[in-house]
Amino acid sequence: MEDEILRLSDVTVHFPVKMPLAQRLFSRKSVVHAVDRVSFSLRSGEIMGLVGESGCGKTTVGKTSVRLIEPTSGRIFFAGHDITHTGGEQLRRLRKKMQIVFQDPHASLNPAMTIGEAILHPLSIHRLELGSLELGRDTFEQWAVKKVLSTMTEVGLTPAKHLYYKYPGDLSGGQKQRAVIARAIITEPKLLIVDEGVSMLDMSVRAKILELMLDLKRRHGLTYLFITHDLATAKFICDRIAIMYLGRIVEIGLARKIYADPKHPYTKALLQAIPIPVKCPMPFIPQLGVDSTLDAQLFSPLVVGKPGILSISWTSTCRTRKERGTTSAFWDLLGHGGRKTLLRGWKQSP
Ligand SMILES: Nc1ncnc2c1ncn2[C@@H]1O[C@H](COP(=O)(O)OP(=O)(O)O)[C@@H](O)[C@H]1O
Ligand SMILES: [Mg+2]
Repeated sequence: MEDEILRLSDVTVHFPVKMPLAQRLFSRKSVVHAVDRVSFSLRSGEIMGLVGESGCGKTTVGKTSVRLIEPTSGRIFFAGHDITHTGGEQLRRLRKKMQIVFQDPHASLNPAMTIGEAILHPLSIHRLELGSLELGRDTFEQWAVKKVLSTMTEVGLTPAKHLYYKYPGDLSGGQKQRAVIARAIITEPKLLIVDEGVSMLDMSVRAKILELMLDLKRRHGLTYLFITHDLATAKFICDRIAIMYLGRIVEIGLARKIYADPKHPYTKALLQAIPIPVKCPMPFIPQLGVDSTLDAQLFSPLVVGKPGILSISWTSTCRTRKERGTTSAFWDLLGHGGRKTLLRGWKQSP
């Protein structure tokens, strides 16, 4: 396919299991089947979600796609070229075009480097390829610092000149993730793999970072492989979604189709596990006034018609005060449609 950026064909990854010799003698299974014959392709400009529960092999697929992990078998193609066995200098050049952003921005940044130095670092690594470009009368350093400052401004790290000299410890979680994204896009990659890139951020920051990613995609023509355990986040950002379960892709298709008509039982279970926004009148949380209204999220699994014990995070606004909290409650979900959720027979658990 002409505009194909990434293709995995029957990729399998096994990891050796470390175990004591005595155990190894009696155990037949000495490898972990982390990824099992995974195939998919990513078109230029597309955002594809790779969704599944923890341990199903998402990170391994992401790292294998950029050749940070060797596949046990199968083939990997980048922009039409087979890169399964690319190595050395060629692989180093390739890395400029495919970047990966991990979950924990703090762990991804060297605490001893300023934010500006960290973002500049990939430019130094790829200096030979970049050095002769558009430098004019500037030295490489002048050109690189200018580029870092403009990229910092682009990702919302402003005032860039001020933040350039700050250390990761001086920044908020959202700012750190912006810095990690700036470092990833500074080499002008074609493919960005975002592995749980917003999972550690709180809700309001998360939405802003997702919007930044969409914005960067439009401006730079980026293609994303967006790895997450959270189907709700994937729904917000992805064009297509691949559902992973125990090392395999069990369902793949347009995001809206998967939401409207999931085929695989595991996809159905994941969809049922998305928190549902609830609006209902008091008295729902007993310690609040009767005139409060409630915006709550029920944390799943939700099974319509079956009672269960749930943790409910809520924000309540009444005339006199605004409160937030979490309440565990016995509940019985009668049904839900859109924003209306009916609950009955709940009582607060101890
Ligand atoms: N370097 C490794 N050595 C051994 N086992 C690993 C290694 N990396 C991952 N695994 C195992 O492979 C499986 C998939 O892991 P991972 O790709 O990290 O899943 P996910 O990102 O979906 O949580 C897990 O069972 C994990 O324990
Ligand atoms: Mg992972």
